[in-house]
Amino acid sequence: MNSSKDIYILGIESSCDDTSAAVIKNDKILSNIIAGQAVHKFYGGVVPELASRAHQQQIVPVVDSALKKAGITPDQLTGIAYTQGPGLLGSLLVGSSFAKAMGMALNIPIFPIHHMRAHVLAHFIADSGMRKPPFPFICLTVSGGHTQLLRVSDPQSFEILGETTDDAAGEAFDKGARLLNLPYPGGPEIDKLAAKGNPQKFTFTKPKVPGLNFSFSGLKTGFRNFVMNNQQKNPDFISENLTDLCASLQNTILEMLMENLKRAAKQTGIKHIALAGGVSANSGLRAMLEKEALASGWETYVPPLAYCTDNGAMIAIAGYFAMLAGDAGTQADAARARWKID
Ligand code: KG4
Ligand code: ZN
Repeated sequence: MNSSKDIYILGIESSCDDTSAAVIKNDKILSNIIAGQAVHKFYGGVVPELASRAHQQQIVPVVDSALKKAGITPDQLTGIAYTQGPGLLGSLLVGSSFAKAMGMALNIPIFPIHHMRAHVLAHFIADSGMRKPPFPFICLTVSGGHTQLLRVSDPQSFEILGETTDDAAGEAFDKGARLLNLPYPGGPEIDKLAAKGNPQKFTFTKPKVPGLNFSFSGLKTGFRNFVMNNQQKNPDFISENLTDLCASLQNTILEMLMENLKRAAKQTGIKHIALAGGVSANSGLRAMLEKEALASGWETYVPPLAYCTDNGAMIAIAGYFAMLAGDAGTQADAARARWKID
């Protein structure tokens, strides 16, 4: 058992298609190992059954590497944090069963963590390139499964200001990319190609949604119809217009995100604006945010890429906050495929 006052947390993430483990000493990062799952590329999307199997193969070596890289042995750990949900049930079960068994074997507390809260709390990992937002701040959380505008008042208080009523922003990228025959995950592919294209070349209708909510499924359908209609007239339409299609689709998605973000900042009067989730890796979104920050006097917070996409470090830091709050879980906590953030 660890006898020093320092808190060592092992964080385990297995909610989707990345198996990741990280170790932090208090809020300081010691290691963050992420193993992706190439198997899904062949199917153009995550296959839940295969994801679960890959997690089972990867979890032991990934945890082992995270401990080794951190230079600690399991008996030095103070606690283990794991993703309880939301996510793919079969994938969550691998991480949660592993964490519970390891916690029981070491006789240390375990901390069930909300995946989307952890994406936001990634901002508080102490590492180079990280700036911590002061409370309260607004966080635009954009991933493959979620799109949310949050008001974060402290590490445990999350208020949804707006969220998607259907598809997530990451899904809009991934499904658009699939239609353009780009590999999965499509977000990074569209990002790369968009940089060489004209974002004003094609325009797509943006749906009207009440309040600060989002809707991306109409855009997906509109984009599909547009591409298919043009392909009927010209079979080479996609290859001849690929960069412009990527730039225009990306621009439409980003404008939808930015419009609501600006309204949220105005409505709340909060000028500390953070990005979280996989889509915050998008270079166009980062550029738009910086431009708006200059125009509106915002302070912005965007973590390095490794802390934007799914990672164990964000689970570890969320576990650290849970530990400080005395919020340990039990062996009875069940994995939760669906789980609201507030
Ligand atoms: O947070 P994340 O790693 O996993 C989920 O919890 O969903 O987010 C994955 C999503 C995918 O939809 C992926 O296409 C998108 O983030 N993504 C991007 C970029 N990098 C990852 N989307 C746009 N531009 C990127 N550079
Ligand atoms: Zn995620």
